[in-house]
Amino acid sequence: MYNTNKKVTYDVLNWYKKTKRQLPFRNSNDPYKIWLSEIMLQQTQMQTVIPYYNRWIRQYPTLKSVAQEKIEKLLKLWEGLGYYNRCRNFHRAAKIIVFDRNGQIPDNFHQFRSLPGVGDYTAGAVLSIAFNKQCIAIDGNIRRLISRVLGIKKFTYYNKRRIEKWLKKHISKLHPGDFNQSLMELGSLVCNPKNPKCHQCPISYNCKAFLIGHPEAYPEKTHKKKIPSHTIVAGILWRGNKFYIQKRTNSKMLAGLWEFPGGKVQYGESLEQALKREIEEECGIHPKIIKKIGSIKHNYSHFSIIFHAFHCKEDKDIIKKEKEARWISINEIKQFPFPKANHKLFDLLNDQNWNV
Ligand code: ADE
Repeated sequence: MYNTNKKVTYDVLNWYKKTKRQLPFRNSNDPYKIWLSEIMLQQTQMQTVIPYYNRWIRQYPTLKSVAQEKIEKLLKLWEGLGYYNRCRNFHRAAKIIVFDRNGQIPDNFHQFRSLPGVGDYTAGAVLSIAFNKQCIAIDGNIRRLISRVLGIKKFTYYNKRRIEKWLKKHISKLHPGDFNQSLMELGSLVCNPKNPKCHQCPISYNCKAFLIGHPEAYPEKTHKKKIPSHTIVAGILWRGNKFYIQKRTNSKMLAGLWEFPGGKVQYGESLEQALKREIEEECGIHPKIIKKIGSIKHNYSHFSIIFHAFHCKEDKDIIKKEKEARWISINEIKQFPFPKANHKLFDLLNDQNWNV
């Protein structure tokens, strides 16, 4: 008979074998594909990731093809997935591996961990799944799951170490990747933050939170800070049947994506004043504001925006340009990556038939 440590490992692996989802990256042990999936799955739900993952692999079947591509093209494919630094870092890492390291993805934790965009979780997940290394990987779901198993309420330094120790003690020697994925799967499908399905859990007999009778109380909820909201204006600045778009600079969030001219409304300014000021500063053009298109709300991780958009016409050039810019027609939009908030604006403009 198994002792308890082995029984827990055996039970989660067995449950995984029976219940695991058929996911496109589970058909392969190509480290490139597994790495890409783990990067895409950070902060993004599985059902959102799958079509992006499939499209990406169709277009870039190898790490070499990623390294040889321009970042603009990759960002276009990532468009809508958010957290674009993931894409930029993945591209940087691909170039390092392909051009400086003979195309070999490292199977050593510290070497892999030192690549751009790779943290402890990603390194642990990729090395265990693709290379069968005994590395633990702690994402939010696993942290909640093991907190319940151990009856942990707060993520103190000491408790984080207890979670790591538990995982190191139980990780399967033969199937560390399946073990990690079984816990990810349990965390996302069964051990949910609300209404956990403990009757489906293969290790509820070993779970303090379940045995106490209040699984949801573990770990304690942290009160989220209220996030600030910014008021933004943007203009669809027309010259004939083309309008002006500009590339966000490298120092900014969403760098490399394209946007309409505009920016934050300053204290005491009207929306129209702010828009004129921004267009003059950014495009070197005096605009004539024609009419309001509408307002859009969008939430980012650390703030939200209310985005007011206006149709404008070029009035007078004052020749001062700060950013890379283009004049494009409506059917050229699909060639450029735009942030999600801009796509919401495109939807609004499509509803209005782009009527100026
Ligand atoms: N979340 C992140 N990576 C995952 C994986 N490999 N399986 C299931 N859920 C995940």
